[in-house]
Amino acid sequence: MNFIPFDLVIVIALLQFTNIQPNNEVISDQLKIAFEKEKTADVIVTFKLRPSEILSKISQQTKSVTDRGGKLRILSDELESLAKSSQVNILKKLKEKNFASRIRSLWITNQVSIDGASLDLVTSIAALTEVLKIDKIYSFKLEPVQDKNKDDNPVEPHNNKVAYNDSISDKEITQASVYSWAVWKIQAPKVWEMGYDGQGVVVGIIDSGISLTHEVVYDSFMGTDEYGWFDPNKMGEVPRDITGHGTACLGHMTGKYGMGVAPNAKWMACNCVDNGWRYRTDWVVECFQFMLCPTDHMGNNKNCSRAPRVISNSYYTVPGESSEFFREITKVLVETDIHYVFCIGNVGSACNTTGSPGNFEEFIGVGLTTIYDEYQTFSSAGPDPTGKLIKPDICAPAHMVMTAHYEFGNDFIDIATGCSLATPIVGGVIALMVQKNPKLSQGSVKKILFNSTTLAVIDEPKICGDTPHDQIPNNRIGWGVVNALKAIRNVPEP
Ligand SMILES: *[C@@H]1O[C@H](CO)[C@@H](O)[C@H](O)[C@H]1NC(C)=O
Ligand SMILES: *[C@@H]1O[C@H](CO)[C@@H](O)[C@H](O)[C@H]1NC(C)=O
Ligand SMILES: *[C@@H]1O[C@H](CO)[C@@H](O)[C@H](O)[C@H]1NC(C)=O
Ligand SMILES: *[C@@H]1O[C@H](CO)[C@@H](O)[C@H](O)[C@H]1NC(C)=O
Repeated sequence: MNFIPFDLVIVIALLQFTNIQPNNEVISDQLKIAFEKEKTADVIVTFKLRPSEILSKISQQTKSVTDRGGKLRILSDELESLAKSSQVNILKKLKEKNFASRIRSLWITNQVSIDGASLDLVTSIAALTEVLKIDKIYSFKLEPVQDKNKDDNPVEPHNNKVAYNDSISDKEITQASVYSWAVWKIQAPKVWEMGYDGQGVVVGIIDSGISLTHEVVYDSFMGTDEYGWFDPNKMGEVPRDITGHGTACLGHMTGKYGMGVAPNAKWMACNCVDNGWRYRTDWVVECFQFMLCPTDHMGNNKNCSRAPRVISNSYYTVPGESSEFFREITKVLVETDIHYVFCIGNVGSACNTTGSPGNFEEFIGVGLTTIYDEYQTFSSAGPDPTGKLIKPDICAPAHMVMTAHYEFGNDFIDIATGCSLATPIVGGVIALMVQKNPKLSQGSVKKILFNSTTLAVIDEPKICGDTPHDQIPNNRIGWGVVNALKAIRNVPEP
C-alpha cells in the first residue's frame, strides 16, 4: 500500500472542500495548506512577464545616458510600465471585490502582494491567464546580534586602544572614548586623514530600521523630507528600530565618535522586519525599490538621483531555505552602479553553510574575523551550494566589537559579535572608495577590495571545497580581511 504523507492528506481534503482543481499549479502547495488553517493569508502574485526579459532592451536605452539618476529612472520607469500592463486585470478584480486590505504593486519583480486574501479571491486571481503563480508570503528569521556579557570578554584592548570603557556615561562621549578597535584595525582613521571620511556619499541600509535618537547615527540621517526613510510595514515618517539590529549595524558603517568606518557619510534606511524579528520577503523587495529610486515615506514622488552608492544588508537565508526571490531582484540590481554587501552567515564552521544572497556571484559576501585576524569559527564557510563559487568573498573584524545599542538612555553601547556587524564595515570601506572615485563600477570595487586585504589565520583543520587555508581566496576567509588604507591606495583617481 502506498504511504500518503499527512500534509498531502490535508491538501486533498481541502481541495475537495474548496473546489481548487488539484492540478492547479498556479497556487502553491504551501498556500493551499495555509488556507486549511486560516480563512485568509498574505499572498504574493507573480506574473508571467518577467522583468528580466526586458533588461537588455533597457540597458541599450540607458547606454548613452550619463547621469546616474537618469539611468536609474529609465530602469524603474520601464519596469513600472511592464508591471502596470501586467497588473491591470488583477487590480480591477480587487477593486470590483471592494478589497480593503493592503495591496502593493512591486515593479522590481513584477508581483503584487496582497495582505489578508481569501481563498475565494486567490482562486479567482489564479484564473487570470497572465498569472504565473501565487505563493504565501515568506519571512525568514533575523539572526540577533549576540550580546555577550562584558565580563566574559576574552578580548584584550588592542595596542592600548580602549575596547570598552565602563565608566563612560551618555553625556561624556568623545571620539577618543568610543574609538572602535575594528575601525582602527582596518586602518580607517589613516584614510580619514587623507581626506576620505564619507563626505558627500549616501549609504543605504535595509534592516530592522534605525533608532533615530541614538547619538551615534542621529546627525548623519538624510532626513524624512530628503527621502531618507521608508517603512513598508507602518509607513511612518520617523525612523524606528524594531529590534536594535539595524542601529547596531549602521553604527559600524557611519557611526560618529570613532564607531563607524565612514563617519561623514549620510544614511538612508528601510525597514523590512516584522514584530517577530522576521524579514518579510515582499518588504525586502519594496526596500530595494525604495533604494533604487527613493520616494517620500508614503512611497510617492520618486527621485532616482537620490539612490545611495552602497547598500549594506546584514541578513541571509540559511542553507535549505528558498532564496529564489533574490534571484529575480539580483538581475535588476546588477544593472545599477550601486554596490551591495551581504552577510555570509553565522552558521559555520561546517563547510557549505553560506547564506543567500551573500553567496551569489553578483554580491560581496562578508565573513567574520577576530581582533587577532583569525577566522571566527561560526562564520559560515563555502563553497556556495553549487560547489562552483568560493565564498565568503572577504571578511571584517567584528568579534566582540563596540556596537550602538538601540535603547538610548539605557545603554549607549554594547559589545556584540557577528557577520551582521562585519558587513557594514565593508560597506563603510566602499563608501570611502566611491568618495575618492564615484565612477567605480561594481566589478572594479570588488577587484580593488579583494586585492587590498590582510591575511587571516585559520585555526580549523577541515578544508572546505578543495581550497587549502594558505590558498587565497579560500572558503573560510575569501580574499582575507578588509583594509581601508590599502583599498583607498588602490582606487585610481577618477
Ligand atoms: C574611561 O572614561 C573615563 C571618562 O571619560 C576616563 O576618565 C577614563 O580615563 C577612561 N578609562 C580608560 C581606561 O580609558
Ligand atoms: C531630486 O533630488 C535631487 C537631489 O539629490 C535634487 O537636486 C532634484 O531637484 C530632485 N528632483 C526633483 C524632480 O525633485
Ligand atoms: C550544499 O548543501 C546543500 C544543502 O543545503 C546541498 O543541496 C548541496 O548539494 C551542497 N553542495 C555542496 C557543494 O556540497
Ligand atoms: C593588486 O594590487 C597591486 C598593488 O597593491 C597591484 O600591483 C596589482 O596590479 C593589483 N591587482 C589587481 C588584479 O588589481
